[in-house]
Amino acid sequence: MKKKITIAIDGFSSTGKSTIAKKLAKKLNYIHIDTGAMYRAITLYAMNKEYIKKDFFDKEKLITDLPNINISFKFNKEKNSNDTYLNGENVEDKIRSITLSNFVSHVASIPEVRKKLVKIQREIAKNKGVVMDGRDIGTVVLPNADLKLFLTASADKRATRRYKELISKGEKVSFDEVLKNVQDRDFFDSNRSDSPLTEAEDAINIDNSDMGLEEQFEHIMGLINNL
Ligand code: DC
Repeated sequence: MKKKITIAIDGFSSTGKSTIAKKLAKKLNYIHIDTGAMYRAITLYAMNKEYIKKDFFDKEKLITDLPNINISFKFNKEKNSNDTYLNGENVEDKIRSITLSNFVSHVASIPEVRKKLVKIQREIAKNKGVVMDGRDIGTVVLPNADLKLFLTASADKRATRRYKELISKGEKVSFDEVLKNVQDRDFFDSNRSDSPLTEAEDAINIDNSDMGLEEQFEHIMGLINNL
């Protein structure tokens, strides 16, 4: 492929957006940005500051503190992917827990949080050569992306993948808890008023319920080569 492009990948939680985005970025020698990690990093900040606790969220305190939150990425050569940094600290391993996952949709529904992160995301993508995944990339962040993909899969399949991932990391969690988290986030992300999760009109829908990573990769590479 000659010209560098921007690729937007959106879809429901645990549809493997980041996994395929990472693989595409590696093949194309592009930057991969996992925007969910940015919302997760802000959630971690709010938890550390105790703005969020069980059944309590002081949104106003978080909004006031937003200018003090710096989120960046650094390429990790060993893992061949970006690590997420919160105010200079590598938080990649801290932002995937089930406790944090239960709060993140609430943080992501705050317009001030979205405004801050969308600005950073557009800045990163301005030179093209980017694969960005999230919920509003094709609709809000990069409406002019050269290729827009929307990934779907059944909630059961997605929860199974996520459950296996969490268990392999040593988290003590039940399948039902993971399934509930996936379903709750689907609902919350799709029904918030600011930039809800919707499929862009010009996105290509890929249901990967019964599709392996290689099959998806070949399919998407075919789409890219046909642009
Ligand atoms: O992709 P993920 O599961 O790591 O995303 C975490 C949360 O962040 C998810 O519940 C929705 C939100 N999110 C968002 O609102 N907009 C994005 N561009 C990316 C994620």
